[in-house]
Amino acid sequence: MTREPRRLSERASTVLLAILVLIVTGVSYLWKNPPTLPWPPAVAAPQLVPAMVPLVTGEESIAQLFTRAGCVVCHMIPGIPGAEGRVGPKLVLGLNGPRRLADANYHGDAKTLHDYIYESILSPGTYIVPGYPDHVMPRWYGQKLSATALDKIAAYLESLSE
Ligand code: HEC
Repeated sequence: MTREPRRLSERASTVLLAILVLIVTGVSYLWKNPPTLPWPPAVAAPQLVPAMVPLVTGEESIAQLFTRAGCVVCHMIPGIPGAEGRVGPKLVLGLNGPRRLADANYHGDAKTLHDYIYESILSPGTYIVPGYPDHVMPRWYGQKLSATALDKIAAYLESLSE
């Protein structure tokens, strides 16, 4: 009768010891193999394929033009509801366009702000805005935007400076 409690406490200490060993093993494993979290988390660039973009005729409202063409997915565009994209630069070409043209690394053909905007949309690889990725802005907008649509887009972007 007097042995019973003793055995119980022996068993309890064996269990405690096992738990302790598990904890120590776990901690030392984590110490040697810290989990590698992707930090900073990679921002996946939105994928836009031609099939997702209808032909933009230019008869749409200015907000619809940018939304249909998918520009809003990647760009912040002042005055356009839902244009909150952060993959590309904020489109304030009235302010930034002249800066791009004055950049020593600019080797495109545009001489005016208007032409720079056309070039940026129709041939995005001509000049890559510093700090932004190449080959992300679609290269097929020439097939999706009518001349009228392009004209309206360029005129609107030119007017933005804030
Ligand atoms: C999938 C993402 C994506 C979409 C969609 C997209 N762009 Fe871009 N755009 C970019 C990125 C990234 C850059 C910066 C790199 C570069 O210069 O090519 C850029 C650059 C530009 C520039 C140059 C801006 C500057 O400050 O010099 C203009 C203008 C522009 N985009 C207009 C448009 C318009 C208009 C549309 C829609 C018809 C559009 N983009 C759709 C990603 C995108």
